[in-house]
Amino acid sequence: MSESGQKGYELADAKPRVNLPGDVIVCNTPEELVDQMGHDLVSHSLNCLRSFGDFHMAVSGGTTLTPFLRHLMIDPICRGIPWKRTHLWMADERRVAPDDDQSHWHDLHDHLGLHAGIPTSQQHRMDAMSRRVEKEYADELRSALAWREKGQDRLDYVLLGLGEDGHTAGLFAHSPALAEQREFVRINSGPTVPGPDRVTMTRRILNGARFIAIMVTGERKAPIVERLTHRDAHPQEFPVLALQPTGGTVRWYLDRAATGG
Ligand code: 6PG
Repeated sequence: MSESGQKGYELADAKPRVNLPGDVIVCNTPEELVDQMGHDLVSHSLNCLRSFGDFHMAVSGGTTLTPFLRHLMIDPICRGIPWKRTHLWMADERRVAPDDDQSHWHDLHDHLGLHAGIPTSQQHRMDAMSRRVEKEYADELRSALAWREKGQDRLDYVLLGLGEDGHTAGLFAHSPALAEQREFVRINSGPTVPGPDRVTMTRRILNGARFIAIMVTGERKAPIVERLTHRDAHPQEFPVLALQPTGGTVRWYLDRAATGG
């Protein structure tokens, strides 16, 4: 009720306001959401192509992202992404064989790897089972990125999901990789890392990104989204909050169900 005693009326489809760090886009349905994400990715990738002549995107794992990866392959608008000049990176991978169902490469390759038209030499799979994967993948990143802006090894776009516990990529609460401030890539394991050990990009490289998209859909994620809006939510507890790119954008893409409707 406003001061004048008049009852304020919200528009029927007024989007709920969600207090998360960065831009927050709320769409009524997952279909509208992937459409918005696709438009944003097309314009951002073309801006990067104009600046650098190529486009470097890193993608995480998880079921939430799959509808968007599928959308990128079927929506005609997304043909505007410069796939032939795109480098595809992995934000994280499970330490399992590449043909294991738990491998993120499985899903990423089935969608973008096989169908986008990205040259295989520009598809950078994490060899998660290699003992030297941390150095190998960091060296591959540096040799591909360093020349673009001397000393700024910056990815152009990072696509991430959100776990119900607030983890993202392979960064879990109170885990060694979350604490890493210097290296680009770390193996992550320990009591707070469920399932197989991970290989993950660290805050060091993720926070150098020009654009971080965090996709969260479904009512299953509403409790963690609400918890992240609390003032006492801390990055050590909820690693997704550690994503604060210097000179980059964080954009949360939520469907209405993930906001608790
Ligand atoms: C991992 C994933 C992880 C994922 C989130 C969301 O290895 O755990 O990379 O970071 O993005 O857990 O997963 P869902 O989208 O399946 O809920």
